[in-house]
Amino acid sequence: MRSFLLLGLLAAAGCGGGTTGETTTPEAVDDTPFIALQRDFQSFSTWEHFHLEGDGSGTPHTGGNRDIYLNKRPAKGATQFPNGTIIVKRTDGVGDPDNGGPRTFAMVKRGGDYNQNGALNWEWFELVQSDVENPSSPWLISWRGLGAPAGGAYGSTDGGCNGCHAQGSANDYVQAVVLQLSALAR
Ligand code: HEC
Repeated sequence: MRSFLLLGLLAAAGCGGGTTGETTTPEAVDDTPFIALQRDFQSFSTWEHFHLEGDGSGTPHTGGNRDIYLNKRPAKGATQFPNGTIIVKRTDGVGDPDNGGPRTFAMVKRGGDYNQNGALNWEWFELVQSDVENPSSPWLISWRGLGAPAGGAYGSTDGGCNGCHAQGSANDYVQAVVLQLSALAR
């Protein structure tokens, strides 16, 4: 009786489980959608951080030095990033013929079947600092959504953010070598 009650509570708390009394591992994924607000980005420079050196290829994605910030690692054994995951990528813009200057992009695991025709459940962002001269000034969301507005692209492809990131679909649309789930979710 006791264990039946406990399983009932777990199920009510959204932990999955089931009421058959079998010992199954509770499904730990919280599927509540997460809608990022400007405040959620403010402290990204303090998150887990990966610095990647440019490969000199002249492409904006891997050609320049870049820093990738991750707000939280997925749980052990996860095959997807959980809702609420925020990944910020800051490129130094060196050697980028299109854009010049540093750019700060982000992808946020929003959930709720958002972006069904692209990187499922991910929302795209560009961030800008309110005062480019002052590194501690607040970050603003320059744009957000299914992709960049006209003129806001990055790496100029017709497919936009979704087009390239589809190549990372096996890793939940996340592409950097350092962010492979096989390495992160251990
Ligand atoms: C031409 C292909 C291409 C396009 C277009 C593209 N990306 Fe990426 N993106 C990549 C690659 C490749 C990486 C991983 C490379 C690295 O930094 O090591 C990456 C990495 C990222 C990351 C770090 C997480 C990850 O997947 O590794 C973010 C955040 C990101 N891109 C955001 C964007 C946004 C926002 C857009 C649209 C404005 C965009 N990307 C468009 C190719 C692309």
